Amino acid sequence: MEKKLSYQDNNLHYNEFGSGQPVILVHGFAEDARIWSEQIKSLQKKYRLLVPDIPGSGASPYNDKLASIEDLAETIKFILDKEQIKETVLIGHSMGGYIALAFAEKYPQNLLGLGLFHSTAYPDTEEKKLARKKSIDFIRDHGAPEFIKSTMPNLFSANFNANQAARVSELISQYSSLSGESLIAYYKAMIMRPDRRSVLVKLRRPILFIIGEEDKAVPVQDSLEQTHIPELAFIHFLRNAAHMGMIEYPELTSDWLAGFISACYKPSF
Ligand code: MLT
Repeated sequence: MEKKLSYQDNNLHYNEFGSGQPVILVHGFAEDARIWSEQIKSLQKKYRLLVPDIPGSGASPYNDKLASIEDLAETIKFILDKEQIKETVLIGHSMGGYIALAFAEKYPQNLLGLGLFHSTAYPDTEEKKLARKKSIDFIRDHGAPEFIKSTMPNLFSANFNANQAARVSELISQYSSLSGESLIAYYKAMIMRPDRRSVLVKLRRPILFIIGEEDKAVPVQDSLEQTHIPELAFIHFLRNAAHMGMIEYPELTSDWLAGFISACYKPSF
């Protein structure tokens, strides 16, 4: 079911699927809620899924008042409050994971588990900040569609690019309509985000890591280091995937999410 709230003078769009214990799936940079379509198919059989388009993506318009990862995390809190959800499992892909970490820092009482799907609690390195600034220049000079076209293949493994080129092209056309101003705003927000490793210690709830060996956006070494921080970590490693495990291995990653979510809802945790 499509849902729409008014948040900070703009529409905030999200979808609700299934019923049962709640789970929020937050998409990443240059994506929208559709990125989870395979996981939605299976998880909705057992859970109540809330899948937002974060402001500036999908059907949620860009709002220049929401300039930080923390601002975007507030939109998740707003949806939870409107839906009268006191406790949930929150899963974020990449930038969605940064948003989930910011949420976990401020509202740990609302979380029964946190999933970092190709994401990291580390802040940007200086090198990464520089690369993002170059990408901002590229978007300004060439526009968002050209940016999506040139970067989308880098998110997939060599094998996926070779064997599933049509799927990569389909995603390029799906996301070419994203606005340059929102992509630039996300980059600026990611540059500013702090180190959130302390959240992994303080949350004291199960934390899921899904890691792709060929991931160029979130280096595998960074992810592996972080798996040692939480008290209870669920760690899944995809040797032949990059940054888009939910598309490269849809069934497997859906099963991993289901296993994690069910553990989070067990009283023993
Ligand atoms: C994403 O997929 O959300 C981005 O690649 C995250 C990032 O660049 O750090």
